[in-house]
Amino acid sequence: MSTYLVFGATGNVGRRVVERLARDGAAVRATSRTPRTAKLPPGVEVVTPDLEAPGVLDDVEAAFLMWPFHSAEPARPLVDALRRGVRRVVFMTGGGARPGLAPEEQPNPVARWHATVERLIERSGMEWTVLSPSTFMANTLWWSRQIREGDTVCGAFGSLAMAPIHEDDIAAVAVHALTGSGHAGRRYSLTGPEVLTQAEQVRVIGEAIGRALRWRELSPEQERARLLADPEFPDGFVEELLAGYAKMAAAPPPAVSPTVRDITGMPATPLSVWAAEHAAHFDGGPRGAAVTEAGARRP
Ligand SMILES: NC(=O)c1ccc[n+]([C@@H]2O[C@H](COP(=O)([O-])OP(=O)(O)OC[C@H]3O[C@@H](n4cnc5c(N)ncnc54)[C@H](OP(=O)(O)O)[C@@H]3O)[C@@H](O)[C@H]2O)c1
Repeated sequence: MSTYLVFGATGNVGRRVVERLARDGAAVRATSRTPRTAKLPPGVEVVTPDLEAPGVLDDVEAAFLMWPFHSAEPARPLVDALRRGVRRVVFMTGGGARPGLAPEEQPNPVARWHATVERLIERSGMEWTVLSPSTFMANTLWWSRQIREGDTVCGAFGSLAMAPIHEDDIAAVAVHALTGSGHAGRRYSLTGPEVLTQAEQVRVIGEAIGRALRWRELSPEQERARLLADPEFPDGFVEELLAGYAKMAAAPPPAVSPTVRDITGMPATPLSVWAAEHAAHFDGGPRGAAVTEAGARRP
């Protein structure tokens, strides 16, 4: 039986890819630096993310790849290892990577790393599909501590519009691209079903959890100080986030893409549904305290 390799299998999207493949009865090999604590479904083989290790690519038909690294340095050895053993790769790139631009022309380092991987994959001889998702709904967990502690969310760029996507919708498209035909050489832009400002996202989360949440606008300077003082937010990501938001705020608002529905046959999931699923993260009671491990993740 063909095996599917999922790299970054404990992440927001990778875990959903594993769960979907396992539910469909596929053989799954998943990577985690800590296999013993990966908590993946029974029957999934969990290995460390060393693709040169003996057996890791045995029988692998297709691989899901995301980029957890803070440089493009591992790109060549990793793609070389894949191309020696794998016929098809589905790569989830970063939202900032602009199609058609060479890595050196990309607007920031994160986009350059992702574009480097895209280029190597496209020239590798493997069948490839690139998924370019919009902002993950999981990013709203950055507000979870404020919401657990009160009804006001403070932040900058409250009128910034996004089309946030449920991580499971990205995974659903990834599974189609891994297991189906007709996706080779395609680059899919994926969004959620609605365009919402940050302030509107806070309101939608409030409605889903039965509370009247408000947005309070901060200047970018105030937001920088707030984020640097937040023990759950990575300091090294503050400038990147604020610069990214300033750039997005100066650009036209995003459009909703029909690709999730086109590929999966199911409409993309609204934020209200995601928020109801994750209500415990925003709950100030003991239930909320038990799920704070979600933490902040790098977009
Ligand atoms: N958040 C957004 O809005 C957004 C939007 C568009 C694109 N993206 C892109 O999505 C990617 C992040 O995806 P995600 O949120 O699903 O991942 P994530 O939740 O941040 O999880 C990271 C995954 O990578 C693994 N990992 C971390 N460091 C590793 C290393 N050094 N070597 C091998 N594996 C490592 C982790 O596994 P273990 O800890 O178990 O080893 C985990 O499974 C980034 O490339 C980001 O640019 C994000």
